[in-house]
Amino acid sequence: MPLHMIRGDITTVHCDAIVNAANNALLGGGGVDGAIHRAAGPKLLEECRTLGGCQTGEAKITKGYRLPCRYVIHTVGPIWQGGNAGEPELLAACYRNSLRLAAEHGCETVAFPLISAGVYGYPRREAQHLAIRTIAEFLADHEMTVLLVLFGSQERNSGHPEMDRWIASQLQQNAFHSAPAPAAAAPAEKSAREKQRKSLFGRRSEAAHAARPVCFAEEESAPFSDSEAMPSTLRSILQSPDESFSQMLLRKIDERGMTDAQCYKKANIDRKLFSKIRSDLHYQPKKVTVLAFAIALELSLDETNDMLQKAGYALSHSTPFDLIVEYYIRKGNYNVYEINEALFEYDQLLIGA
Ligand code: APR
Repeated sequence: MPLHMIRGDITTVHCDAIVNAANNALLGGGGVDGAIHRAAGPKLLEECRTLGGCQTGEAKITKGYRLPCRYVIHTVGPIWQGGNAGEPELLAACYRNSLRLAAEHGCETVAFPLISAGVYGYPRREAQHLAIRTIAEFLADHEMTVLLVLFGSQERNSGHPEMDRWIASQLQQNAFHSAPAPAAAAPAEKSAREKQRKSLFGRRSEAAHAARPVCFAEEESAPFSDSEAMPSTLRSILQSPDESFSQMLLRKIDERGMTDAQCYKKANIDRKLFSKIRSDLHYQPKKVTVLAFAIALELSLDETNDMLQKAGYALSHSTPFDLIVEYYIRKGNYNVYEINEALFEYDQLLIGA
């Protein structure tokens, strides 16, 4: 997943480079600047002294010293002055120049704090939107994994009160109507069922098997007369299985006139995972992966449910993740980064994770 959002302390992140929200002097300070210098040790300041400061929007690179990263990229964000003094352009330049430097130094993983969103007073939500948009633009043309590290536990506020209300109402409704969980099968019975399923359906996933509506003609409902025999209906079903998830995915990419790369980048999925799916027509994806591609292909709700069903899943109204994705699909908003920001606010897995 090229763009992750996590909560934590950037000085503990193991990656090729972390970005420091510094000031023009590059001689340390408070906030994340202070935390990075404390964790890196005095040699970081010694090297910073040789850099001759840094212009706002620009970026300079040093070693990481005692930090669990090879490099520290120091950039200086704009001080918020109301939004009409070029702050957005300067803040975007911080991300672009830091990413350019990271690419020039062969970094594959880079971690950012939310630049200017602390002492420099940039409103957090705007700073977060701009960071995600700018990083996403860069990732459209570059293979890199970027982490946006948010510090502390900000209050939950997706920025979409209408969605927050809809999700709360759905969760409340389902809290009263959710069916009791099916009783777990006894271990012995389960393993016998498992053996029979494997012999009939090969490697297909449990969920895909369970989800498949298989109906038998009357005479076949009786137990098999001979353990070798297989009812003809079942044989015919096995000889013409439904389209698999991978087959539907590749078909939809062609129908949309997209390239593979356009699709998996828009899905926030990395190239290696896509190659696995493309090479195994019976690949069993995670639910978040199916939804990532549904968003990238801009599938309707019915098509999304169809693709989920081919992988053995269904959208549920009892989990915030599914409700948030369904909300955006119903709205026709397929911006995976906007959806991930909402998922992040609800502490959910992110699309493409
Ligand atoms: N890990 C990740 N993020 C952090 C950490 C940390 N250890 N500490 C703080 N942050 C977050 C803040 O919560 C904020 O969201 O980093 C973001 C940027 O806040 P600041 O560090 O205050 O940076 P900025 O707003 O860009 O102001 C820069 O502050 O620290 C001084 O020397 C620095 O003068 C410069 C100014």
